Amino acid sequence: MVTPNLYYADLKDSYLFYHIAQKTGAYLEQNPGAHLYRLGIGDVSLPLCDAVIKALHEAVDDQATAGRFHGYMPECGAPFLREAIGGYYARRGVQLLTDEIFVSSGASDELGDILHLFDRKNSALVIEPAYPAYVDANIMEGRKIIHLPSSEAEGFLPLPSEHIEADLIYLCSPNNPTGAVFNRDQLQLWVDHANRTGAVILFDAAYEAFIEEDGLPHSIFELEGARTCAIEICSLSKTAGFTGTRLGYTVVPKELERQGMNFHDMWVRNRTTKTNGVSYIIQKGAAAVFTPEGQRQIQENIQVYKKNAACLMEVLDELGIWYCGGKNAPYIWMKCPDHQTGWEFFDRLLHEIQVVGTPGEGFGACGEGYFRFSTFGSPEDTKEAAHRLAGLLRK
Ligand code: MLT
Repeated sequence: MVTPNLYYADLKDSYLFYHIAQKTGAYLEQNPGAHLYRLGIGDVSLPLCDAVIKALHEAVDDQATAGRFHGYMPECGAPFLREAIGGYYARRGVQLLTDEIFVSSGASDELGDILHLFDRKNSALVIEPAYPAYVDANIMEGRKIIHLPSSEAEGFLPLPSEHIEADLIYLCSPNNPTGAVFNRDQLQLWVDHANRTGAVILFDAAYEAFIEEDGLPHSIFELEGARTCAIEICSLSKTAGFTGTRLGYTVVPKELERQGMNFHDMWVRNRTTKTNGVSYIIQKGAAAVFTPEGQRQIQENIQVYKKNAACLMEVLDELGIWYCGGKNAPYIWMKCPDHQTGWEFFDRLLHEIQVVGTPGEGFGACGEGYFRFSTFGSPEDTKEAAHRLAGLLRK
C-alpha cells in the first residue's frame, strides 16, 4: 500500500489565503449582492500594460504562422528573455551570465521547487512575520524550521547572530508582509553570515520594483560575496501585473557550491528533467516588460498602487495608528486598534465595513495584533475602503 507524505499532517488545515477566501465566500453567501473592498491577497487589479499585450498578440500570430511557430522552448528559458533580464540587472550594476538566469512560471512555484536542491535534513530559517508558503513548503518536505521572530523595535529587520545555526535562510526584501527593506549594511551582514556558516540564502525579490528610496538594494547580488551564498527568486506578478499570466525568474550563480556539488549545474539538471519551459507566448510578453516602453508603462501602474498606499497611509496617520511599509513596498502593516487580534480585526472590518485585509497571525505567531493591507486593489475600492476605515475607527 502506498504511504502518503505524512508531513502533510503537520500543516495547518488550510493555506492562509485559501482560508480568507472561504471566510469572504461565506460572508457573501449570507449577504448576497454585498460588495467587498478587497485589500487582502496581493493580487493586482490593473490590466497588463500595452507593450506586453502587443507582444502577446504578436506571439500568438507567430504560433499561427509556419516559419515563426515555436514548439518546445528551452527548459531554462528563451535566450531572448534571459538576455533581457540580464540587461535589467546590468543597468543596476549587477553583471550576470545569461545562463545564470532561469525563467520560471512564477516565484511561488519556484520557492517550493528550488527546495529539491537541498537535503531534507537541512534546517530552514524563516524570519517572521513571513510569507506563509516558505513555512508550508518546508513542512511538506519534513524540514526543520527555525522561526526567527522579528518586532517593531528592530523595524522587522532582524540581523544575524552567532546563535543562528540554519542551513537555508529565507530573506524577503522589500518584505511581505511588513514592507520593511534591508539596507546594504544589514543585507551584507546576512551575506557574510551565510558565507561564514555555509548556509544558502533564498532571497525573495518579488517586490524590488516598489523600492523608491535611493541606495536600498534591489538584488542580493549587489552585495559583495553574494555569488557564493545566495539564490534570488523574482517575479513579474507584482512588477508587471503577471499574477494571472505567470512568469518569474531565478538567479543561481555559477560559484554557488557546497560539498563539491554545484547548485547551478544541479538546477539545470532539475529543470531540464522536470519542465519543458514556460510557453513561448508568455515569454514574449515578459520580454516586452524589459523594453524602455515596457518599463515606462509598468512604472505608470506601480505609481497607481503607490497612490493607493498614500490614500491608506493618510487615514492611518490621521487616526494616529502605527504602521510601516507602503513606501518601498505594496503592503501596509498596521497595528490593530483596541488591542484586537488580527483575526478579530479581520472579522470587524468584514462585517462592519465590508473591507477585506489579512490578519497578522497568518504570517506567524509574532504577527498577532497586526494587520496587512495590500495596495493592489482598484483605486476606487481603495479610496472607499480608506474612507470606511476612517469612519469606523473615528467612532
Ligand atoms: C500575498 O498576498 O502575500 C501574495 O500575493 C501571495 C503570493 O504572491 O502568492
